[in-house]
Amino acid sequence: MNSHSTERFLSYLRDKNTDAVRFRWASDNLARLLCIEATGKLPHREIEIETPVGTASGQRLDTDLMVLPIYRAGQSLVQAFLGVVPDAAVGSVLIQRNEETAQPKLYYKKLPHPLPKHVIILDPMLATAGSAVMAVNILKDEGYDAEQIYFAGVVAAQQGFNRLAEHIPEDHITVAAIDPVLNEKKYIVPGLGDYGDRYFGT
Ligand code: PRP
Ligand code: URA
Repeated sequence: MNSHSTERFLSYLRDKNTDAVRFRWASDNLARLLCIEATGKLPHREIEIETPVGTASGQRLDTDLMVLPIYRAGQSLVQAFLGVVPDAAVGSVLIQRNEETAQPKLYYKKLPHPLPKHVIILDPMLATAGSAVMAVNILKDEGYDAEQIYFAGVVAAQQGFNRLAEHIPEDHITVAAIDPVLNEKKYIVPGLGDYGDRYFGT
């Protein structure tokens, strides 16, 4: 994704002086842009529409959708997606990274039944991609194949982006920025710090 609007909101998120209220505002606005971009990659079908004065061709989303936020930070993106696809089902996975090892651990999962045809995993930060790959594997264990799985996030580290692209198609991944490196604590650099802490003010 690359536009002045994306950059404007992302710049507030990156700035260490942005307070929690402004951070949430920038996050919610950027989430809408992400959502428009990510849902545009889902299958669409051509339709014909009767306007009040004639006939026009158009597009409809041609699938049923689940959004799967990785809690906690992924929760910050859910409302934006429901604003654009109001009938999407919402699954839940609570995955947390261990603070010392950065290894992800699954604490809870609940998926809708029947399972919708396509899924967008939501998580603002893709660092090592350990959490996202764990979510992908949960979906694959439920019977999804890679072509049915998408990811939307705010900032990816290059290595996390590359790793996730080994598990789902690269063009299914939507992020506002790809940053070059991780630091020794597996935080994205320059990144924006801890998204969950800044969004929820913890
Ligand atoms: C953060 C973030 C991702 C994960 C990314 O969550 O929201 O889920 O780390 O790192 P990874 O790509 O190396 O797995 P965290 O576990 O810190 O929990 P939080 O959502 O409560 O902040
Ligand atoms: N989680 C975050 O919130 N930020 C990072 O940079 C890495 C993981």
